[in-house]
Amino acid sequence: MLEPSREALVSELISSLQKIQLRLGYIPQEAIRWLAEEMHLSEQDIYGVATFYKNFRFTAPGKHQVKMCMGTACFVQGGESLLSATTERLGVEPGKTTEDGRYSLERVACLGCCALAPVSVVDEEIHGKMNQRKMSRLFVQIDKKDREEKKGKSK
Ligand code: FES
Repeated sequence: MLEPSREALVSELISSLQKIQLRLGYIPQEAIRWLAEEMHLSEQDIYGVATFYKNFRFTAPGKHQVKMCMGTACFVQGGESLLSATTERLGVEPGKTTEDGRYSLERVACLGCCALAPVSVVDEEIHGKMNQRKMSRLFVQIDKKDREEKKGKSK
């Protein structure tokens, strides 16, 4: 039997990683271990490929997902400083989730609505012409909603 070429192996690996992330929202350590066994590769080989592609995340996504567009239009309209302010406010770097599991922050490529730059997506809802004030208001609303939800559950 012929050995699969390196390209075929990498392509199969990426496809498996994509399926895992699609199903779980991230690639857990156990999945890396399982894939390594299945594909007869080392965990380091898998990490090597997975970390090369910026779309894979290795921590569970937060309850609220904040995506900041860093495409050219958003970047020049202040996206970078908005990302930095959001990073500071949430206390988490892009690609990570806050310790309390409430927010995850991601930088993403062009979302295809550049006329609205700078654009953020919070819990799958697109927010255009974003600025720090609007972002801050949005976090206040989310926090308030979460508190009300928590109160409702504890009754
Ligand atoms: S660059 Fe942000 S939506 Fe296109």
